[in-house]
Amino acid sequence: MVRYLTAGESHGPALVGIIDGIPAGLALDVGAIGGALSARQGGHGRSRRQQIEHDVVEFLAGLRGGLTLGSPIGITIRNRDHENVKALMDPLTGSGPPITRPRPGHADYAGGLKYRHADLRNVLERASARETAMRVALGEIARQYLGVFGVTVRGFVFQIGDVRAGEVGELPDIDSVAASPVRCPDATASARMVARIDEAKRAGDTLGGAFELGAAGMPVGIGSNRQPCDRLDARIAAAMMSIQTAKAVEIGEGIEIGGYVGSRSHDTFEPSADGVRRGTNRAGGIEGGMSNGQELVVRVRVKPIATLMKPLESVDLTTGAAAKATVVRSDVCAVPAASVIGEAMLCLTLADAMSEKYGGDSVAEAREHFEASQRGAATVFRGAGE
Ligand SMILES: Cc1cc2nc3c(=O)[nH]c(=O)nc-3n(C[C@H](O)[C@H](O)[C@H](O)COP(=O)(O)O)c2cc1C
Repeated sequence: MVRYLTAGESHGPALVGIIDGIPAGLALDVGAIGGALSARQGGHGRSRRQQIEHDVVEFLAGLRGGLTLGSPIGITIRNRDHENVKALMDPLTGSGPPITRPRPGHADYAGGLKYRHADLRNVLERASARETAMRVALGEIARQYLGVFGVTVRGFVFQIGDVRAGEVGELPDIDSVAASPVRCPDATASARMVARIDEAKRAGDTLGGAFELGAAGMPVGIGSNRQPCDRLDARIAAAMMSIQTAKAVEIGEGIEIGGYVGSRSHDTFEPSADGVRRGTNRAGGIEGGMSNGQELVVRVRVKPIATLMKPLESVDLTTGAAAKATVVRSDVCAVPAASVIGEAMLCLTLADAMSEKYGGDSVAEAREHFEASQRGAATVFRGAGE
């Protein structure tokens, strides 16, 4: 079982994370964690906050000489912006004028009532997606664990506002994604997305969009049909919906498939030299809640950012009078960053599900379990037809 927790307010001193269940003996590439954090900070349409922050992971536990110890891994990421708002956000003395005009589409209103916070800052500081920097760092550790089994995870943006990428293939070249300022490998669409973000910014408005994730090298049988909560598709959907602004998750052709006939919906089997192969991958690599050996394909729809520079109608909760919603420094579009977070969430989910089947106390043991399982699977039907 690979599980994790994060803590930290957006403008608090630091983000804190613990990941448990990573076996001993994994040589962590700390540079790759930094690379993923920079990717999350990037993307056209982010706020000035990203120029203030320079996310760096500090290891506090679970690592010695660059190798995991098998104990819980504890990490922290400092919030540089904390220094600029120390009087407001100091854990012991912080105070300031309350925020009382909830932003439609944000956590302000529900959180204010739920936690009985008259100052909505006490809600928005944790609701903020700043927290996802920690998820990306932990997700990168999970990605490196997946590497033990030869599984790779990638993502890209295919829609921002009403601009959609053309045919980009399921897993485009990673360099073409990184080269785009919106993480979209279709260069023409990428340029139009940038222009659309600039237009929205000028209008004081915001944009959402959609991204696709893929996991290649998945063995058969990760997840389970045993219990509803064990299903891999259910776990992936929950992980994606945990990303702030994510509003819909699609696996394979999940959104359109309700309108197809059965003969157009499923992935036929064909004989092949090493057993069977599939004619298509409409299921997105999951059948019966288990990976089926095809590439996992997941798409996530993201709503537009809730803080508008031309604020929406709201109410001042202290006076009950109509008022414009609170305006705080904000992104115009965070879909590229959300795609990086999506990759991290997929890595964390797959690491957990794979460790159920192949887990071990050390990387060497996990690898042995994996190899033995692959050998066993190859013999299941051998001789059955004789
Ligand atoms: C990477 C990323 C950056 C975000 N940046 C902002 C932002 O600058 N301003 C904002 O109002 N919301 C931002 N959001 C969205 C809010 O965090 C989110 O809408 C809010 O927490 C309410 O959650 P919900 O959208 O899931 O209902 C961002 C989300 C992500 C994933």
